[in-house]
Amino acid sequence: MGRKFFVGGNWKCNGTPEEVKKIVSVLNEGQVPSSDVVEVVVSPPFLFLGLVKSSLRPDFHVAAQNCWVKKGGAFTGEISAEMLVNLGIPWVILGHSERRLILNESNEFVGDKVAYALSQGLKVIACVGETLEQREAGSTMDVVAAQTKAIADRVSSWSNIVLAYEPVWAIGTGKVATPAQAQEVHFELRKWLFANTSPEIAAATRIIYGGSVNGANCKELAAQPDVDGFLVGGASLKPEFIDIIKSAE
Ligand code: G3P
Repeated sequence: MGRKFFVGGNWKCNGTPEEVKKIVSVLNEGQVPSSDVVEVVVSPPFLFLGLVKSSLRPDFHVAAQNCWVKKGGAFTGEISAEMLVNLGIPWVILGHSERRLILNESNEFVGDKVAYALSQGLKVIACVGETLEQREAGSTMDVVAAQTKAIADRVSSWSNIVLAYEPVWAIGTGKVATPAQAQEVHFELRKWLFANTSPEIAAATRIIYGGSVNGANCKELAAQPDVDGFLVGGASLKPEFIDIIKSAE
């Protein structure tokens, strides 16, 4: 079963309205492979979702960077999945390590969020990944399996989930995983899905890599058989994001 290449741009907590307009115009003018070949999703901060959605080319889509774990209500400062759906935002990123580590989001909490977002009709980019300490202790696979299990325990269908492997030590550090390191974990994650969900889910679920991806290293990473795309941070705010999209070819 073919897995369509997926490139996500996570803008994190960056940008002024002027900067956002500039990035959107770079994206709108970029020559990229057709949407039959690559699915492109950019994720601006909440405040810019409307602006980006209304000005972005129609073949690219928009994701929020988070949403609340259940139905909206008295949760000051939160944004609910229903609100995103009402705004016409199709995707949400959940479980990013910056939220797991800085805001103490547990595996279970992330799993609950994924399940709730899916139940409301959102598609989810679910992030997993180990810290440097965990990698050096040899527990990479245990960590990402536990993070993935908390999701698998709560969802029955994976057709609207993209799994993003983002080793924490590679995020924003310029220290990208080698293609072999990325492939190894992606392969193991797919094996985990095979054993713990179903062969069909394992074959169809896109597993994308995130962590210091740029225009120079994307080709080699994209050539790995189990790397189905990228979740890009810093470089998604720059024109080289177009080169990363082109690595789908
Ligand atoms: O979600 C993307 C991410 O965490 C990677 O960030 O800046 O290392 O590409 P960056």
